[in-house]
Amino acid sequence: MADARARVEELRSEGAAAIAAAPDAAAIEELRVRYLGRKSELTQILRGIGELPPEERGPVGLAANAAREGLEELLGRRRAELEGGELEHRLAEDAIDATLPGVAPVAVGHLHLLKQTRREIEDIFVGLGYRVMEGPEIEHDYYNFTALNHPPGHPARLTQDSFYVDPATLPPGVVNEHGLPPGPKDVLYRTHTSPMQVRSMEAQDPPIFIVVPGTAYRRDTIDATHSPMFHQVEGLAVADGISLADLAGTLEEFARGIFGPGRQTRLKPDFFPFTEPSVQVDVSCFVCGGSGALADGSRDPLCKGTGWIEILGAGMVDPNVFGFVAQRDGEGDAAELRYDPERTQGFAFGMGIERIAMLKHGIPDLRIFFENDVRFLEQFA
Ligand code: DAH
Repeated sequence: MADARARVEELRSEGAAAIAAAPDAAAIEELRVRYLGRKSELTQILRGIGELPPEERGPVGLAANAAREGLEELLGRRRAELEGGELEHRLAEDAIDATLPGVAPVAVGHLHLLKQTRREIEDIFVGLGYRVMEGPEIEHDYYNFTALNHPPGHPARLTQDSFYVDPATLPPGVVNEHGLPPGPKDVLYRTHTSPMQVRSMEAQDPPIFIVVPGTAYRRDTIDATHSPMFHQVEGLAVADGISLADLAGTLEEFARGIFGPGRQTRLKPDFFPFTEPSVQVDVSCFVCGGSGALADGSRDPLCKGTGWIEILGAGMVDPNVFGFVAQRDGEGDAAELRYDPERTQGFAFGMGIERIAMLKHGIPDLRIFFENDVRFLEQFA
């Protein structure tokens, strides 16, 4: 009996030491099998109790059961200890904690100042009931010049020196306004957004209230105020009874929307082939407030001391332009014309987006828009 009991005590202390040293849950499971499993020595001793001399059965049974319970408790405690530690460990190691608040995304960029300015202009006119339309950048001479009352040979064509498109590079089927294959000067990069005036009138009946933002091209040398590629917004309003007063009021509203609520506007006579009368629209200078002088009394360089800044060209649509739309309206008698040059009235305007942005933000050189220097671009994030 002494032997069996001594062995039970040995197993118990050996097991307790092994359990205390177990490094992880897998080791615990292994120890459970080794010390308490069906084939373990302790289990064998318990099973063999019936074969022991009767006086040994009680004490050996008691000792073996106590050892079993003791080891079971140690295993349980060590397992809980390890599991707790493992959770701590995993929390510390895991890079992803789904319970943490998200990280704000890194900003990857923003709209270019010209696009921002374009949208600002659009928003103002959309607020006045205008629709935004776009048109083709490769244009027929007919829409770019002829239908805008610049007949072939008209000197105003020379002020807009053009990039022409080699007809051999055009897709098959393109014809000029006479239905003929285009010649070397029939198709060009549009020199302004004005071609959309006649295109939009051909496409829809009055009333029309549209703005047309887009890119235009001229054979200009590059300097602080010129670029062969630039951006404009065209405007066209055609409806019953439209007058020059509507033009003045609309463009004053625009000037205040872009340059600030206190701005005044004035109209000066100008010339464009497709408007009659034509005007230049000036806005009161937002640097000097219209006085022409800075706080220290010196001449305001922005408005050159005049107190006024030119922002765009405009005018009443020339009846000849309506005449070009009417011509294409087909045969019909004059009373059915959708754009009768005798009765239809409207106004048009055109502005440079670069110019508006330069004035508004005090940008001295147009080239900087296209150099993509982030030190410039990021100032308008
Ligand atoms: N198309 C003219 C240009 O590029 C600008 C312009 C002036 C447009 C007067 C208009 C207008 O619609 O009425 O110089």
